[in-house]
Amino acid sequence: MSLNHLEQTKLQMAAEPWSMTLADVTSALSSVPLFSGFGQKQVRLVAESGREYKYKVGTTIVEDGSVGVGFYMVLNGRVEVRKGPRVLASLSNGQYFGEMSLIDGEPRSADVLAVQPTECFTLSTQTFYALVKRHPELALLMLKELAKRLRAAQSSDQ
Ligand code: CMP
Repeated sequence: MSLNHLEQTKLQMAAEPWSMTLADVTSALSSVPLFSGFGQKQVRLVAESGREYKYKVGTTIVEDGSVGVGFYMVLNGRVEVRKGPRVLASLSNGQYFGEMSLIDGEPRSADVLAVQPTECFTLSTQTFYALVKRHPELALLMLKELAKRLRAAQSSDQ
């Protein structure tokens, strides 16, 4: 069993698969800044290519050091990004995580935990790559967000 498969299995055990209607996922994703340049049909295609999961409070969604296999968007709820005892960020509706490992192929850089009952929309690595290739503007938006998060991390270091 590959490491990727192990992480996937572990994450699926921690999460409850959950189905929203396609119309509801499309509507939730339409209001997300990352997809602000997308038309309704394009957002619908994204909605069709992912899955929704629910997490209880305290669930580790992404584990520091593990091999990354997915991209996550918070639809409802709140997660914290933690490195050991340090809280690096708090992310809620419309914000995403898990992109770093997919971009550089390195293990997950931090833990991400549900601090409220949380519903996420997830894309597999392959779907994420295909989406970014088809819509290169997503890479630019993610770079902007990465710069913002880096600046926030630098200012909290001081
Ligand atoms: P990844 O490394 O794949 O898994 C952990 C995720 O936490 C990471 O991708 C980012 O999405 C997120 N993350 C890591 N560091 C920070 C930070 N300083 N601020 C906000 N989000 C972060």
